[in-house]
Amino acid sequence: MSEMLKIGVLASGRGSNFQSIIDNIESGFIPAEIAVLISDKADAFAIERAKKHKIESLVINLKNFSNKDLFYAHIADELQKRGVELVVLAGFMRVVGKPLIERYNNKIMNIHPALLPSFPGLHGQKQAVDYGVKISGCTVHFVDEGVDTGPIIMQAAVPVYEDDTEDTLSERILKQEHRIFPLAIKLYAEGKITLTGGKVCIKSGRENGILINPPA
Ligand code: GAR
Repeated sequence: MSEMLKIGVLASGRGSNFQSIIDNIESGFIPAEIAVLISDKADAFAIERAKKHKIESLVINLKNFSNKDLFYAHIADELQKRGVELVVLAGFMRVVGKPLIERYNNKIMNIHPALLPSFPGLHGQKQAVDYGVKISGCTVHFVDEGVDTGPIIMQAAVPVYEDDTEDTLSERILKQEHRIFPLAIKLYAEGKITLTGGKVCIKSGRENGILINPPA
């Protein structure tokens, strides 16, 4: 039997996406193992989740490095030391630096709470409400050096209602995040995601990377 894909997760906060990945690994849906959780915040709730599931966790604080490149090089070292093959950004609230992107070229996945290329950066849900779009959603994509600009792997759409606030829309989108992120990781672990000419192709009979307002 071949070894399972080794995942490293980076998270800055609550970690509900991290939890959904843990749950989907434990249920056998994702054929992978989490080698380490790395957080840039010592008080991130994601760390508690790691402890509960006996996953090694590290806090790597930017303040302990003289520049961002050294910070990201150190993160890459820790990931490589543990044989991590895919890096998953589960609510990692920083723009990833070159040293990590170069060592994990097209091997870093992020979840963003908007339908990219609309509303990149922080507060994607608030940006959607403020703009007045009628449909928003979430996007799983590979990470490149831009801000939420890498190749799109999978998206899910949700309606935006007139009385939505950032909070109500975030909640609706989050439910879809917890569906498509594990699905994208599963397909990657099964070798069904390929990149050609900067575009992602999903080799699977049923999943074509589009989930339009899928039922909860
Ligand atoms: C999620 O909504 C995720 O899409 C977003 O942060 C939240 C983290 O929640 N990420 C970004 O905005 C990245 N630019 P979680 O900690 O409960 O997974």
